Amino acid sequence: MTNAQVGILEDIPNHARYMTFSLLPKSNPHDSLKAIKAIADGKKIIAGLGTPLLNRLDKKIDGMRDFTPHSGPGFFVPATSAALWIWIRGDDRGELFHWSQQIEQSLGQYFHLDAIIDAFQYQDSRDLTGYEDGTENPEGDDAIQAGIVQNTVSGLNGSSFVCVQQWVHDLSHFKSMNTTEQDHIIGRRISDNEEIDEAPASAHVKRTAQEDFEPEAFILRRSMPWSEGQTAGLVFVAFGHSFDAFEALLNRMTGKDDGVTDALFTFSQPKTGSYFWCPPIKNEQLDLSYLGVE
Ligand code: HEM
Repeated sequence: MTNAQVGILEDIPNHARYMTFSLLPKSNPHDSLKAIKAIADGKKIIAGLGTPLLNRLDKKIDGMRDFTPHSGPGFFVPATSAALWIWIRGDDRGELFHWSQQIEQSLGQYFHLDAIIDAFQYQDSRDLTGYEDGTENPEGDDAIQAGIVQNTVSGLNGSSFVCVQQWVHDLSHFKSMNTTEQDHIIGRRISDNEEIDEAPASAHVKRTAQEDFEPEAFILRRSMPWSEGQTAGLVFVAFGHSFDAFEALLNRMTGKDDGVTDALFTFSQPKTGSYFWCPPIKNEQLDLSYLGVE
């Protein structure tokens, strides 16, 4: 049993809406937390708090920090900041629209809505390249161990740290490659999802093989494809009991360990990158007691 926001541990829904907000300068941060508590149930509506909001409160969350940007030949991984991240999950896109309107209204006194991304599940949980995403995700107790803070501190136990990045794919370029070239970018065969031993070191799953890190770098991925008009990609979402595993993975993707950069960058680039702290749940509401809100 865990008091995590349960939607974090559930499979990805059919539809999702991500909303990011900045805090209005005149807002009282404690009152703004009460407004968030009134709307997030942790199941259909997940909430994550960013440093622009947390820094305005007296209490520091151990392990919470800002996302740092990375750059190198052929890639730029930007850091973008947001005070609040809301992940709305459901089966009916119309319902999500109505909830998001209600959420914007309820929070409007304190927050400005900066961005909305509509996302969806593609086939049996595939990225828009057609490759299955999430195969090596931890499950059950392993998912809790990787994704959820487990300690004895009330108000912190059951919380989670999440990294969110909106990646934009160049799918025309990806589709212009032959199947072997595509398989070697991912490091798995699209035909049967098997790992390819002889794939180049730049292959994504070679870069990110979670068991190859010391300590092992398991994260709980809940990414979903997005599209708007003819532009599309992946909203990469990874929960952790800290940001350490994610940062170890990203360092290897960006060539910090051995100079080899992830082949994903040849057809996709992130355009946002933010960190949030997702509070635990108590009585079906966010437990914000650690931040002084009962
Ligand atoms: C455009 C963005 C991305 C795409 C399309 C993508 C896609 C994939 C695919 C298709 C797999 C193989 C199946 C699986 O195990 O899920 C995979 C594995 C994985 N990805 Fe990504 N990914 C992206 C970004 C990232 C980022 C930014 C990270 C972390 C910094 C990451 C971490 C992982 C990990 C840990 C695995 C499992 C590796 C293993 O242990 O075998 N991915 N990804």
